[in-house]
Amino acid sequence: MEKLALLGGQPVRTMPFAPWPRFDEREREALLAVLESRNWGGFPAPNTRARQFATRFAAYHGAQYGICCSNGSISMELALRAVGVEAGDEVIVPPYTWIATAGAPVHINAVPVFVDVSPDNYCLDPELVEAAITPRTRAIIPVHLGASMADMDRLMEIAAKHDLVVIEDCAHMHGAFWRGRGAGSIGHFGSFSFQSSKLMTAGEGGMVTTSNREYYEKVESLANCSRKEPGYDSFDGFLFGWNARISELQAAVLLGQLARLDEETKYRAKGAQYLRERLKEIPGLTPITPDPRITQEGAYQFIFKYDREQMKGIPRDTFLKAVAAEGVDLGGSFYIPIYESPLFNVTAAEWPAIRERYGDRIPGNKIDCPVSSKAAYEEAIWLHYPHLMGTQADLDDIIAALAKVQQNLDQLR
Ligand SMILES: Cc1ncc(COP(=O)(O)O)c(C=O)c1O
Repeated sequence: MEKLALLGGQPVRTMPFAPWPRFDEREREALLAVLESRNWGGFPAPNTRARQFATRFAAYHGAQYGICCSNGSISMELALRAVGVEAGDEVIVPPYTWIATAGAPVHINAVPVFVDVSPDNYCLDPELVEAAITPRTRAIIPVHLGASMADMDRLMEIAAKHDLVVIEDCAHMHGAFWRGRGAGSIGHFGSFSFQSSKLMTAGEGGMVTTSNREYYEKVESLANCSRKEPGYDSFDGFLFGWNARISELQAAVLLGQLARLDEETKYRAKGAQYLRERLKEIPGLTPITPDPRITQEGAYQFIFKYDREQMKGIPRDTFLKAVAAEGVDLGGSFYIPIYESPLFNVTAAEWPAIRERYGDRIPGNKIDCPVSSKAAYEEAIWLHYPHLMGTQADLDDIIAALAKVQQNLDQLR
């Protein structure tokens, strides 16, 4: 019996995993060029790199337009505002995601309606969506979570039937494709994040993608203080916009990141496939099977499931603590249901539209999404993408650490 590192044994691994974020001469040179140009300012005018980046990024994913913005939270708010979602309108969201997905409707005084995720992939369960639609429903925000994509075929069908707008939250899904169509190009909008933990990053940043010219113009105006292309301060705004611009320095970094996206996505997808195969060796751990309609996997977080019963009753988080001591730090409660998050402190005093549905505040006993709760507190294990950017030996270490703990569960009692 091997002694677990948690109890003083030798850890499986002491080396760090691949460094990230990644960059090379492309980012270095582009940053320096912008620096020396003394032209650092905000998208869109008078700058050019952010426009270039938005156009290339959107085209890569098959959308006609891209609009850079300050982050992947504001991006969803911009899309909701561009289609005229108003105070009191309802927006269907999954709870098993970052708070921004539900926070975007709240921030325009709309009402998020939580619909549980599917146990197959932890993405919004289309079979539950229709029952949640009311005369006030205007939009659905499915999240492509981890390495999975929400069932866009079914969701678009439901949206068409009920005349709803679909905003794909693609914060995890740069470079992924669903039946040959890029993330963010299937719904009416895509929303991307370039925050520091994401697959492509400039520290912060976001993007809205769309193939609708009117939506594009509106989003750009909303993100640029109501200004309207192509003028600069010479048009009346048609909506009341705000400043959600990114700088030319961010765009310089993002152009470099985009140049690497295709290669890195394919590399990680291979690593994810390898891990899926190897996880078969470990009873009690089951990877999520990718939907066959995903034609390019975007592995941001590789999620697999923990079966406590098969693990001799040891709770997931105890197991993960032991795996971390072996040198492999994985996430358990990466997300908890949004309505249980202390960060999602949404009150009717501040956002009056929620009162009718939820009373004084959103968190409460009115919402029950059992699949999300089980994923958050018992079942899901998240492996962050830098783990997939290293060598096969890194992946073997991950498996070795998981297997070692699984084979020595009695030591955790
Ligand atoms: C699923 C999801 N949606 C939206 C966001 C918000 O992106 P940002 O941090 O750029 O505002 C995040 C970021 O963590 C996310 O993970």
